[in-house]
Amino acid sequence: MHKLFHRNSAASIAQPKDTESPYLIELQRVTKQYSTPAGTFTAINEIDLQVEAGEFVAITGKSGSGKSTLLNMITAIDTPTSGAITVDGVAVDKLSQNQSAIWRGTNIGLVFQFFQLLPTLSVAENVMLPMDFCNTYPTRERRERALMLLERVGVLDQADKVPTLLSGGQQQRVAIARALANDPPVVVADEPTGNLDSQMADATLSLFQELAAGGQTILMVTHERTVTEWVSRTVHLADGIVVADSLITDRVPREVAYV
Ligand SMILES: Nc1ncnc2c1ncn2[C@@H]1O[C@H](COP(=O)(O)OP(=O)(O)O)[C@@H](O)[C@H]1O
Ligand SMILES: [Mg+2]
Repeated sequence: MHKLFHRNSAASIAQPKDTESPYLIELQRVTKQYSTPAGTFTAINEIDLQVEAGEFVAITGKSGSGKSTLLNMITAIDTPTSGAITVDGVAVDKLSQNQSAIWRGTNIGLVFQFFQLLPTLSVAENVMLPMDFCNTYPTRERRERALMLLERVGVLDQADKVPTLLSGGQQQRVAIARALANDPPVVVADEPTGNLDSQMADATLSLFQELAAGGQTILMVTHERTVTEWVSRTVHLADGIVVADSLITDRVPREVAYV
């Protein structure tokens, strides 16, 4: 069994609930417009979306369809022009910038296409960063927790190297361990397999599938491959609108060896 880590009960972690929604993530008539030299451009057009805890959702659609804009609003990196977004009962579109940084650090695990690991820190130190930033675990437990997460994603033996010595697939595993540092209810990944070969991509999808089976909610943007054998739901965007929303109920989980 894994060791139990002691989460700090610092005031910065606690976030009062704004609503009691039955959904973990809820978007109500969310619109995002950008001002451009050519006039107002609507990137997201009155989207309603509900996601339950434990879903593994692929957000698909062509380049420019609004996928990243949607994720950025759910993670409070960006705010909608109109509409409302709640995540775990918190009205994330109403958070100030300072509040949103701490809220995101404790509630959202972010995974990017180009990993975005800090090159001057060791792998283990990269995984400790979110714990340091949000003060979520006692200082003396952080390294041990980072090592536990690295073991979970299969790269414990790389802990004291700098990230550039690792393969792309290994770096993405470190980035996923970092995303899990503060045990967030939601993991958000924007094209996480876009820079991986197909074997590494499968291993990443398999890992996300395991996390979802453990109760974490995964939102993953992808535009390049069929992911229906991994995810529990696909939401397809076109021109800022949800044009298809499919639950995948007949999927048989596939075993993939870590590479
Ligand atoms: N800051 C911005 N200013 C103006 N237009 C933007 C901005 N960010 C994104 N867009 C436009 O919004 C649309 C959706 O972008 P994005 O969400 O990045 O799409 P995707 O991730 O699906 O490729 C695109 O047409 C893009 O050019
Ligand atoms: Mg994008």
